[in-house]
Amino acid sequence: MNEIKPNITLASIAAIAQNYALGKDNALIWHLPKDLKHFKAKTMGKPIIMGRKSYESLGKPLPGRPNLVVSRTFDKIPDMQPSDLFNDMESAIDVSGKASIKVAAVPENVPEGPFLYSTLADAIEAAKEMANKMGEDEIFITGGGQIYKETLPYTERLYLTILDRDYDADVFFPKFDWDEWNIVEEIKNDAEPEKDHPSFTFYTLERK
Ligand SMILES: NC(=O)c1ccc[n+]([C@@H]2O[C@H](COP(=O)([O-])OP(=O)(O)OC[C@H]3O[C@@H](n4cnc5c(N)ncnc54)[C@H](OP(=O)(O)O)[C@@H]3O)[C@@H](O)[C@H]2O)c1
Repeated sequence: MNEIKPNITLASIAAIAQNYALGKDNALIWHLPKDLKHFKAKTMGKPIIMGRKSYESLGKPLPGRPNLVVSRTFDKIPDMQPSDLFNDMESAIDVSGKASIKVAAVPENVPEGPFLYSTLADAIEAAKEMANKMGEDEIFITGGGQIYKETLPYTERLYLTILDRDYDADVFFPKFDWDEWNIVEEIKNDAEPEKDHPSFTFYTLERK
């Protein structure tokens, strides 16, 4: 086994409403192409770890990234069809052409998986090994509610998109104390009332 570089950061990336809403009926609540593009730009080429339910809402591994899935009950991942969410995330590069978010091309030769783990500790260790081999310095928790909550105590960086309104939801991001985090980036995006999009902000937070 390669020795893991100590400086591989565990980051979480999520889009949440003002009331910390994350999802409903195992789906996203809003459709914000610019946020999907932001997600794609941040995670491309890096290992992503998600819960079984979030993986089911995608149906297929996201391209260009090792997809690590945790489940205590599955012994293998069933073959599934890409969902509308998967298709939206895949096409996110084509939307909002004026936006300044740059997404790297989908790298070749990245093993996408899905790779299945029965504990988060095993998934995180494997993701770090993969990042190490790929020369990356960051791995991502990409949801959903259960996985964000379990990993938040040792998450070192948070990429949070915060929408400026409340939504009805059945899954929420864990409450956290802003005083424990430094805001290292804050990018505001205007509302687009004609598309029913609220204003929202891309935050990058580093644990103090
Ligand atoms: N807004 C966003 O940025 C965002 C991002 C991602 C997801 N979401 C939303 O979040 C919702 C899904 O979240 P969720 O909380 O219901 O489910 P989830 O966190 O995606 O998955 C939960 C599942 O993960 C497995 N699991 C949890 N902890 C584990 C552990 N310690 N070890 C091994 N396996 C573990 C279990 O699978 P088994 O039951 O198979 O054992 C559990 O049922 C959806 O609505 C989705 O759209 C939103």
